[in-house]
Amino acid sequence: MRILFLGDVVGRAGREAVGAALPALRARLGIDVAIVNAENASHGFGLAPEMARALFAAGADVITLGNHAWDRKEIIPYIAETPRLLRPLNYPPGTPGAGSVVVELADGRKALVAQAMGRLFMDPLDCPFRGSADLLAKYRLGVTVNAIVIDLHAEATSEKMAFAHIFDGQVSMVIGTHTHCPSADAQVLPGGTAFQSDAGMCGDYDSVIGMTKDGAALRFWKKLPGERLSPAEGEATICGVFLETDDMTGLARRIEPVRTGGRLSPAMPAV
Ligand SMILES: [Fe+2]
Ligand SMILES: [Fe+2]
Repeated sequence: MRILFLGDVVGRAGREAVGAALPALRARLGIDVAIVNAENASHGFGLAPEMARALFAAGADVITLGNHAWDRKEIIPYIAETPRLLRPLNYPPGTPGAGSVVVELADGRKALVAQAMGRLFMDPLDCPFRGSADLLAKYRLGVTVNAIVIDLHAEATSEKMAFAHIFDGQVSMVIGTHTHCPSADAQVLPGGTAFQSDAGMCGDYDSVIGMTKDGAALRFWKKLPGERLSPAEGEATICGVFLETDDMTGLARRIEPVRTGGRLSPAMPAV
């Protein structure tokens, strides 16, 4: 199975770039399942239902959120009726929406997609390790589903790496989101799970993690709040990873970075 995962979509620049590029990326890479993290799509904070609909229409099969899940409150009733829009699975029991979904392809192959959120330098949620282990106890990679992808939305690289090693061999890929910077550590771990500690963002990199430079500099240097942070509006770099799995085992054959447009050095897998 060929899976494309795109990191945090930030603001209009990110939304428009992904909307324009996703159909061509799907075709070029022969993608079976496309997953997009869109927690920052709405002016940097949250995701509005019409933006989710546009991303689904552009070719996203699953959209994930994160710590900004509820910044746009209209998403709360929408997520309850949209199974392919995920929030972290380790929110308290009873939280609207779901933390995982099984996507069935036209040919019958199935992919389980889930999101968990880290706790280091983040809100103290339920344990992401235990929550993920409980979910994975219901599935067998290569037996009941052909692929399993977990988006680990977390700040700390150490927590992401530990998570990936704990579930190495049980899932096709652990892919980090949230830092908005693509890491150069894509690898297939010894047990066969693909890993990259952060997918990067789909947004303007002439910025501070997607937000305008001036406002962020005021906050860090002058300790003044300044204006409300707003997204940088220059050309976005689309950042993510390409994953190819073995349908029989569900394990990863290869993981490669995808970067196109904007300021970052380009990367595109050969297929
Ligand atoms: Fe984000
Ligand atoms: Fe985040």
